[in-house]
Amino acid sequence: MRRKLRALGRLIGEQMLNRRNMLALGGLTGASILLPPDAAVAALAPDGDPARRRRGSRPDDRVHVPPFSVEMPLPPVARPVAVRRDADVYRIRIRNARVEVVPRLLTPVMSFGGGFVGPTIMARTGRKVIVKYRNELDEPANVHVHGLHVPASSDGHPMDVIQPGGVREYVYPNGQQGATLWYHDHSHHTEAQHVYAGLHGFYLIHDPSERRYGLPSGRYDVPIMIRDALITPTGKLAYDVPDTRNMLLANGRPQPYFRVAARKYRFRLLNGTTHRLFRLNLGGVPMIQIGSDGGLLPAPQEMRELLISSGERADVVVDFGRFRPGRRVVMYDTSGAVMCFDVVHRVEDPSRVPDELRPLPDLPEPTVTRDVVFDLQLTPPQPKYLMNDQVFDHDRVDFRVRRGTTEIWRIHNADVELGGINHTFHLHLEQFRVLDRDGAAPWPSDRGRKDTIYVPPGQSARVKVRFTEYLGKYVYHCHFLDHSSLGMMAQLEVVP
Ligand code: C2O
Ligand code: CU
Repeated sequence: MRRKLRALGRLIGEQMLNRRNMLALGGLTGASILLPPDAAVAALAPDGDPARRRRGSRPDDRVHVPPFSVEMPLPPVARPVAVRRDADVYRIRIRNARVEVVPRLLTPVMSFGGGFVGPTIMARTGRKVIVKYRNELDEPANVHVHGLHVPASSDGHPMDVIQPGGVREYVYPNGQQGATLWYHDHSHHTEAQHVYAGLHGFYLIHDPSERRYGLPSGRYDVPIMIRDALITPTGKLAYDVPDTRNMLLANGRPQPYFRVAARKYRFRLLNGTTHRLFRLNLGGVPMIQIGSDGGLLPAPQEMRELLISSGERADVVVDFGRFRPGRRVVMYDTSGAVMCFDVVHRVEDPSRVPDELRPLPDLPEPTVTRDVVFDLQLTPPQPKYLMNDQVFDHDRVDFRVRRGTTEIWRIHNADVELGGINHTFHLHLEQFRVLDRDGAAPWPSDRGRKDTIYVPPGQSARVKVRFTEYLGKYVYHCHFLDHSSLGMMAQLEVVP
């Protein structure tokens, strides 16, 4: 244990040096991190994680913006360049851009289409979407739609990248039910930096059969991407280790306000960070959760707090109808305020939240059981980020899965040393059902059709999943992208 600790100390230093070469750190140097003195945060963010830890930046290296001083924008909605009989066609440039995150400061970002949060792609169940990307960056990039049931050729496999200057067409069948999905870069080794730098956006599947529920829709259906950032006084978005990212952004602006009418809203909350857990609350105002990663829940559930780890989504309805104009409702994470909702006027509200939503389909009896173990190894010269004792190798198939089979996967986080290291589990291609956690009932955040879950140190979760339709190679990995980019990822192949 003590040897492991000493090795870790050396490794953190080396790893940070390597990171420095790649990234604009904007003059950050060592000092101690200001962590919120909150037991819940401490429990969620163990400091044993070498990918999270460094000596930190001086507080004055970071820009601070007064809370609730900028308005939360809505990400632009992508406009199809062609509407074919069988598909909507989009064209999106992957490019460098300068955007205003902090007022009156331009921040260089990597972008889908020019904004910090990419254009929202509005898909419809049963209707194809084709997106043609041109990579105008000077490095490879690619696009994965997180949560989409899609042929392997359009999944954005980490090794299947778009070279600089290259063009790539992804075809998305959208055979699944309505869901809040998102798209992001997945180029191996660079996904964490790329996503942090802005290669992220919403991909929403609307399902006409869900209209009958009468949920808030149209302008009252609002996607909100929550993430963190560290912005230096010169406007640089510094890719430093996660612990130093002091600024919370909603749709790309720091702690913004959002004007709402006194009625029900549907908020599609996405944790768009590369490496963070959020515990969100509205200061006692209830959130009615209606959906999770893969779409609507069987029934709405009143929540006082939402736990969402990197990549997870929660669809909630918040009813501002009982508030008078002038009332402010603040959304908090355990680390501070994320944003606020300002009730500005009254309006008719024909929307509702029915007692029953979309039932989960039955899955057949599982016939295969597998184990997935996260284990970080501190062997010099670099820590190894392992899944089942191995670093990701695209030439290796870790699990061969028969199409049509229902399986149980037991996900275990073995990293209990050094205060513990958090991991998350994300599976491509299919949504799964969480059966239990260490034999006990699943958590509230596990409800519905999931593709990403948080697995705390020393704990396990069992999930059940059925592999349908598509053949080929797909990855599964820790969705803390600082971990997956260093190899905490593996590959399955669906075979006939
Ligand atoms: Cu959100 Cu493999 O990714
Ligand atoms: Cu991890």
